[in-house]
Order: sequence, then C-alpha cells, then structure tokens
Amino acid sequence: MQLHVADHPLIRHKVTVLRDKSTPSPTFRLLVDELVTLLAYEATREVKVAECEVETPLTTATGTKIADPPPIIVPILRAGLGMLDGMTRLLPSAEVGFLGLKRDEETLEAVTYANRLPEDLTGRQVFLIDPMLATGGSLVAAIEYALERGATDVTCVCLLAAPEGIAHVQKSVGDRADVSVVVAQVDERLNEVGYIVPGLGDAGDRLYGVVDL
Ligand code: PRP
Ligand code: URA
Repeated sequence: MQLHVADHPLIRHKVTVLRDKSTPSPTFRLLVDELVTLLAYEATREVKVAECEVETPLTTATGTKIADPPPIIVPILRAGLGMLDGMTRLLPSAEVGFLGLKRDEETLEAVTYANRLPEDLTGRQVFLIDPMLATGGSLVAAIEYALERGATDVTCVCLLAAPEGIAHVQKSVGDRADVSVVVAQVDERLNEVGYIVPGLGDAGDRLYGVVDL
C-alpha cells in the first residue's frame, strides 16, 4: 500500500481553517471542495491514459486522453458526498457510484445501508472518497466491495487520517491489490471512542510525502 501525505503550505493552511470550530458552514464546504481538488491532482497522477490524435489548426498532434473504461469515483455517504464535486471537476468523464456506510458508534464497525456499485469493476480504476479515515472500518469495507467486484487499483482520497486507521487498511489489503491512500494530513491518534485526535505523530513531526507501507 502506498500512503501519500500532501506536502503543500496551502493545503496545511486550508486544513487549519477547516479544523477551526468557528469556521462557518459555507466556508467549511468551500474549503472541503478546494482541498479535494488539490488532492485529486495528486491522486490522479497514475490515472490510466491512452495516446490519441487531435486535429489542431496547423496539423495533427499526438496527445493523451483518459483511457477506457473511465475511472469510477465512489463517495462514501454521507460525508464523502461533499467531496464529489471537487473530484469530478478534475475527472469529468468518470462514472460515479455510491456506498452508504454508517459507523456504528458503539462497536465502531461499518454498517452498509446502500450499495450502488457496478457489478463488474474489472480493469476500472476506483477512487474512494471520504473525509475521515478514523479506525479504518468504513474504508476497509469500501475497499472490499471494490476488490470483490474485480478492481485491482483503488485510490482512497481522505482529508484527515489516524495512524491506526492507515495501519488497519494496510493490514486488511495486504498485497491483494494496488491500493493508495492520499490524505491532506495524518493526525496523532484515535481517542478512546475512535475519534481522530489532531496533533503530531510519535516523532513529534508531521508526516509528509509518499511512503510505501
Ligand atoms: C464518518 C466518516 C467515515 C467514518 C470514519 O462517517 O465520514 O465514513 O465515519 O470512521 P471509521 O474510519 O472509524 O470507519 P459516519 O459513519 O459518521 O457517517 P456519516 O458520513 O453519514 O456521518
Ligand atoms: N467521525 C468524526 O467526525 N470523526 C472521527 O474521527 C470519526 C468519525
């Protein structure tokens, strides 16, 4: 599994404003949208493309287009829905599927209440979007739905993640598929009720960049 933690001052700035409890809802929504667009740029670095030709006013030029079948973007409801516009802005030709997952706040297990994914995801790049990766239960369930439909290439785009959730995803996926997690910031830990506690990691430093786990 590959972990990609955004390393950009604008992303750090926007995450800080997002965390501020005095940030009004309209600003919060706008920041989520902007952050997703910035993360989508990194998350789509390995998007499958095909060579194509285009007629320019002067001559025929060789170019690049998104390959067929197009990628599929899957927001994990409900919160992931707020990230959909930001993703489709960069990948307008992508198909969209939906997964409704609810974290049971007693057991912290993910409960599925809606599943609108194509039956066959063979050869499709799947982008799962959810702002919070806490225990990882929801993301692991979503990845399993994608893998059991034949997907082998899954990119998860999250805003905040706990180290425990990242480790859970890594352990669950193993080497069964090519899974990456692209995240704006990795926080310190989970608290006793499974909520992400903001802060720095064990080393007292923020984790940035691309890490092979
Ligand atoms: C939140 C969040 C993730 C999940 C993360 O959703 O959007 O889906 O919790 O927790 P986990 O990593 O421990 O599974 P929630 O279940 O609260 O549903 P909601 O988006 O409908 O509020
Ligand atoms: N929902 C939240 O708001 N925060 C978490 O850390 C997990 C679920």
